[in-house]
Amino acid sequence: MISQCNPVERRPRVFSGVQPSGALHIGNYLGAIRHWVQMQETHDCLYCVVDLHAITVRQERKALTAATLQLANILLAAGIDPERSILFVQSHVPAHSELAWILNTITYFGELRRMTQFKEKGGGEQESVGVGLFDYPVLMAADILLYGADHVPVGDDQKQHVELTRDIAQRFNREFGKTFVIPEPVIREEGRRIMSLDNPANKMSKSAASPGSYIALLDPPDVIRRKIRRAVTDSGTEIRATPDKPALTNLVAIHSIFSGLSPEAIEERYAGKGYADFKRDLGDLVADALAPFQRKVAELTADPAGTRNILREGACRAEAIAARTMERVRERVGLVPRPV
Ligand code: TYM
Repeated sequence: MISQCNPVERRPRVFSGVQPSGALHIGNYLGAIRHWVQMQETHDCLYCVVDLHAITVRQERKALTAATLQLANILLAAGIDPERSILFVQSHVPAHSELAWILNTITYFGELRRMTQFKEKGGGEQESVGVGLFDYPVLMAADILLYGADHVPVGDDQKQHVELTRDIAQRFNREFGKTFVIPEPVIREEGRRIMSLDNPANKMSKSAASPGSYIALLDPPDVIRRKIRRAVTDSGTEIRATPDKPALTNLVAIHSIFSGLSPEAIEERYAGKGYADFKRDLGDLVADALAPFQRKVAELTADPAGTRNILREGACRAEAIAARTMERVRERVGLVPRPV
């Protein structure tokens, strides 16, 4: 009798990454990481601490090592489950750099020059800007394409890089034969762009000079409350999320995600009350929401061997997938197979 085996349905695959540079903030969490956690229910997920991206701007050696391990702990504490997802450090899988080199050969100078993040970080400086900063999106494309990711959950600022990844993948497939899955960016409306607390025209950023502009996920409760108390507000006194009130719109969006209330319900709740009441409650809300997470980070930090084990296992699993892709890529390009 012919046995009837049900084909195992492959769940769609997710890849995303975060840089261990600067303090991780609530923008990173609300725009990306909380979605990563949810997507574990429906997708096969790979999450990566992208240390090679971080070194495109100068990092202090010891601080980088510490930040890389701390970021892994932050992701674990936020709910990334190493039993279900592959959590690893980018530089532990050399195929990222190798594929980036090959993709460099089909990426255009003009495409990279047009990237908004490069223009911002490079500051228009042509002569002394690092080549790594310029090439950053190609390494990101390699990250995504190595794993055949169908979906890439990111905040709004990374959309352009994922779109470039699609262009590079399509070009490679056209020139060398179908090799890569064409990935889709996944950008959820709520929290897609959390703005700076001291200037709502700028996004909340790890590299911002002023720590008052962001709430770090590891800020102590009194610091969180103080930063929210000092956040800039708009003219007027009403709590309203409208285009003429960008600062309030941002604070209401943060409230809404942490409290689960709609912006309208928040406006209603604070009708007739002033900014001080709203900010006090928001400070408490964020500090209380982060407290259990911060305790978990502290527990994980006390067991560095545990974290290193998780990252070792993650790199091993990631490497197995990456190796299969690289074999195909090498063959398509015409590189002589590696001697075994
Ligand atoms: P990074 O480390 O700057 O940020 C990590 C994630 O947080 C999102 N994010 C925000 N979302 C909402 N509001 C904000 N103010 C805010 N600031 C940051 C980012 O969009 C990102 O999703 N290049 C990436 C890392 C990377 C990557 C990848 C991402 C490397 N390879 C492959 C996806 C796939 C970066 O610098 O993210």
